[in-house]
Amino acid sequence: MLKFPVPFATTVFVCTHKRPEGHPKPCCADRGGAELREELRQMVRSGGLEGKVRVFASGCLGGCEQGPMAVKYPDGELMMGVKPQDLPGIFEELKGAE
Ligand code: FES
Repeated sequence: MLKFPVPFATTVFVCTHKRPEGHPKPCCADRGGAELREELRQMVRSGGLEGKVRVFASGCLGGCEQGPMAVKYPDGELMMGVKPQDLPGIFEELKGAE
């Protein structure tokens, strides 16, 4: 195993988990998780935060009923029910964290 320090000051994981059709639990993929992740990634790139902030897709973060879910590190802030209109505010927080 190799270990090395993460080169980003801030990391955001956006749940893009997809459940099979007819599954009793909701999933973030059906609520736009992948689109939110891609839009936030583009904001990070075009906003000059690339290399400082990384936006990853994640599996289920355990809050499916409140999805789409995201979590931001190093502060460990969990975001529930993220909507496209929330992204500018999240981006401003990311800018402030650098
Ligand atoms: S599917 Fe996204 S939190 Fe469970």
